[in-house]
Amino acid sequence: MTTVLAIETSCDETAVAIVNNRQVLSSIIASQIPVHQQYGGVVPEVASRAHLETINDAIAQAMDQAQLDWDKIDAIAATCAPGLVGALLVGLTAAKTLAILHNKPFLGVHHLEGHIYATYLSEPTLDPPFLSLLVSGGHTSLIYVKECGNYETLGETRDDAAGEAFDKVARLLKLGYPGGPVIDKLAQTGDPQAFALPEGKVSLAGGGYHRYDGSFSGLKTAVLRLVQQLEKDGDSLPIEDIAASFQATVAKALTKRAIACALDYGLDTIAVGGGVAANSGLRQHLQTAVSANNLRVLFPPLKFCTDNAAMIACAAADHLSRGHTSSLTLGVESRLNLSQVMKLYS
Ligand code: KG4
Ligand code: ZN
Repeated sequence: MTTVLAIETSCDETAVAIVNNRQVLSSIIASQIPVHQQYGGVVPEVASRAHLETINDAIAQAMDQAQLDWDKIDAIAATCAPGLVGALLVGLTAAKTLAILHNKPFLGVHHLEGHIYATYLSEPTLDPPFLSLLVSGGHTSLIYVKECGNYETLGETRDDAAGEAFDKVARLLKLGYPGGPVIDKLAQTGDPQAFALPEGKVSLAGGGYHRYDGSFSGLKTAVLRLVQQLEKDGDSLPIEDIAASFQATVAKALTKRAIACALDYGLDTIAVGGGVAANSGLRQHLQTAVSANNLRVLFPPLKFCTDNAAMIACAAADHLSRGHTSSLTLGVESRLNLSQVMKLYS
């Protein structure tokens, strides 16, 4: 049994959690969304400062909620890549300090490996191999999960991430930040077939389309043109129908690629992770498609789809149980390919 305290500060949530293998003992998520809302997106310097102000309280609350003493914690972990450098530094430095202070092993964790591990929090018996569909604000990838620390990216977006597309479309519809939850809500009462929008296929040099890669920037531009046309015609914007059509297009595109990939590689389970895994349209499309293809799809609990530290602690616990620890000289990286995860450990 491995108990890990982990810190996640890669973007706009200050999160601390304590996990025993795959069981969450405490999870604190202090969201900075209200701080960034006035700017329409995350401002890196503001994020770092807010993490600094919140981190000590969040650690104290996580210890309190778990009702544990430090001698029951086996290791301290923090997200070290990828993410906003200043924001990552706050969490990493706090984790290293705790590790030195309490004489515990320290582990740096790759943020996307954390999102993959979020599924284990609701499915503790899940074992690789499986296909991970990772859809967040910064990433959209299809990942072949072979074992802890061993990942192969099979498909990805060529431009905008899925969450980024939700955020950009919400901004042009003047719906505020973050865009995913509000579009999801509006789409419930809209007609998903009201407007035909492009799915963002990527052409191959020899003809045809890429089976797993996609693009979302054309879809975002198509929504912009649609809005401009409707405004020019003097029509009031059917926001719900636009939201529903956009959401259904994203869900259809992601589902098609994930199913093709799972079938081609003989993987019977698709585990979805990242903020967009909370999307109700994507959940419905995937559920229907997996049933038709004799596959299964797993989603993390809603609160562990978006950024949290429980998923980071869960990944760290698995690495620790394999004897992996990180050097206290480990730094942060704004970008790090998932295939490089093992370079974080010695
Ligand atoms: O995983 P996450 O918290 O942070 C990153 O690692 O990027 O994902 C945040 C993204 C945002 O773009 C947000 O708009 C999107 O997830 N999101 C959603 C929903 N909830 C959050 N997108 C679609 N539908 C949702 N219900
Ligand atoms: Zn994330």
